[in-house]
Amino acid sequence: MNVAIDGPAGAGKSTVARKVAEQLGYVYIDTGAMYRAVTLAANRAGVDPDEPDRLGTLISGLDIRLEPGVNGQTVLLNGENVTEEIRSRDVTLRVSKVASHEAVRAKLVDLQRKLASAKGVVMDGRDIGSNVLPDAELKVFLTASVQTRALRRFQELTEDQKVPLAQLEQEIADRDRSDEQRVHAPLVRAKDAVVVDSTDLTVDQVVEVIIDLSRTKTAEAK
Ligand code: CDP
Ligand code: CDP
Repeated sequence: MNVAIDGPAGAGKSTVARKVAEQLGYVYIDTGAMYRAVTLAANRAGVDPDEPDRLGTLISGLDIRLEPGVNGQTVLLNGENVTEEIRSRDVTLRVSKVASHEAVRAKLVDLQRKLASAKGVVMDGRDIGSNVLPDAELKVFLTASVQTRALRRFQELTEDQKVPLAQLEQEIADRDRSDEQRVHAPLVRAKDAVVVDSTDLTVDQVVEVIIDLSRTKTAEAK
């Protein structure tokens, strides 16, 4: 089957999805990494996210690949390993705007559907259950309070990356709003998605909840 995990920034999607995929023997696909790779390419080319025509031209020349890597997944942009660089603050602050454009989404959604066509994937993002894989057998909407999500991100920062926690919280809230309010495939809970609130759960507890849900789905299908 295919498993779709959606939700806001810092809910734990990537961490949990990677572990769920490992336990099920599935392939993990981080769709946010693809939008980040396009944003990095735009930043490097000096293309403003407010210029849809230039973004459209830029994306048509990009080759974005996800390959199994040391920590789950390696992201290749035109053959270059950009796995680390796409996590930079410059990319994080602009990615939501870049991801709001139809041309960008059309290309990446097409790629994502191809990757999932053989089944056996755990895919995380914002519009997986609602748009990319509407027939996914299991859909999870993973959430947590904005304070908890900001604190998780804060704890991941190294000393030279540190920004005040309140600023991080504001940036996350702004990105959530931008992802929820865009016209094309906004962040929304699919009607048939199970909501899991991770605010008071550990990573392993969330993984267990999702593995249990996948077992129930498999049993129902028999
Ligand atoms: O890891 P984090 O939650 O910070 O973000 P991400 O999953 O790497 O996604 C970065 C951004 O890409 C999101 O804020 C969305 O704007 C966009 N995105 C999207 O529009 N659709 C997806 N399926 C995945 C990500
Ligand atoms: O992909 P998303 O933006 O939803 O979250 P993430 O990049 O997986 O980051 C979540 C961070 O919170 C990681 O450092 C996890 O170790 C931590 N965490 C979690 O994911 N889930 C919990 N229930 C508790 C902590």
